[in-house]
Amino acid sequence: MSWVSVLRDHESLFRRAPSAHNTQPWTIDYRADEIVIGVDPQRSLPDSDPTGRDLMLGMGAFAETCLIVAAGAGLAVGCDLSDPRRIRLVPAERPYETIFHQADVDARRVVRGPYEEGLLDLVILAALEPGIVHVRSRDLAGDLEVADRWMFGTPPVARELRDWLRLDPRDPRYHRDGLTDRALGLSRVEARVLAGALRVSGLIPGVPALLAASGRDLLRYDGSVLVLTGSFDDRREAGRRLLRTWLLLARFGLAVHPLSQLLDCPVTADRLSARVGATPLAVFRVGHPRQEPPRSARLPAP
Ligand SMILES: Cc1cc2nc3c(=O)[nH]c(=O)nc-3n(C[C@H](O)[C@H](O)[C@H](O)COP(=O)(O)O)c2cc1C
Repeated sequence: MSWVSVLRDHESLFRRAPSAHNTQPWTIDYRADEIVIGVDPQRSLPDSDPTGRDLMLGMGAFAETCLIVAAGAGLAVGCDLSDPRRIRLVPAERPYETIFHQADVDARRVVRGPYEEGLLDLVILAALEPGIVHVRSRDLAGDLEVADRWMFGTPPVARELRDWLRLDPRDPRYHRDGLTDRALGLSRVEARVLAGALRVSGLIPGVPALLAASGRDLLRYDGSVLVLTGSFDDRREAGRRLLRTWLLLARFGLAVHPLSQLLDCPVTADRLSARVGATPLAVFRVGHPRQEPPRSARLPAP
């Protein structure tokens, strides 16, 4: 059996990789001696992610996930990022060196519920990848509200979010992709209110502010936020770093919750750049979650 077929047998595992709005924007082309990973334009977010920042981070995170899964299967596989339009998984001299296992990939998940109070331990901060800056959550609480108001008040962005929400378990896409009511930690009533509010968000003044107010306290506690910085041209490598960071934090029992709206909203993005003195590519809160989240949906491996 070729390495390509062996890795293909693990497709449902490496599909556990994270992606913005859970779009799972990758295409996977299995060839004789390589696997070519491309972007599915139907699964990109042109309005919320016009620069492709999150798309490229997600592609990098997907590549890193594939490498970890391949190494776990004992396969000598590397990745070639020289072509900006695709990622090639190719034979290598030895398996990818990583401290992570297939079980880490399987267990990884984003947690959007409440976290315990407390800042990250210095030992953990010292163990992180380069280019990660720590910020206290309270320092970003006001900006998060500004960013949320911008997100809900920018009709194409709010519409795109609505398109990827799966708020009704009867939705045929509920177990395939997108963000479910359960993943967002919403009750049935809250899910209905959100669906209705998003429908009128760009039409009725005041609704964006009301929606933003629902997340007002998310960062108003003594907690940690991490900012992944790096060069915009290296977003796929940054995505690989991001995935390794999330897996490492999970090893310490810590959960992550990305808050990309802080980077999407021009005003808060500028303020965050100035605060960290570098180009922020991803921002997420980190902490010990108070509840275990549900497992997110994935498209089935064909
Ligand atoms: C680049 C990137 C940006 C993301 N931005 C957000 C975000 O702004 N808010 C959020 O709640 N989740 C965000 N996520 C998390 C995804 O929604 C999540 O990975 C996806 O729903 C699958 O869930 P899982 O990671 O728990 O498997 C982001 C993920 C990636 C890779």
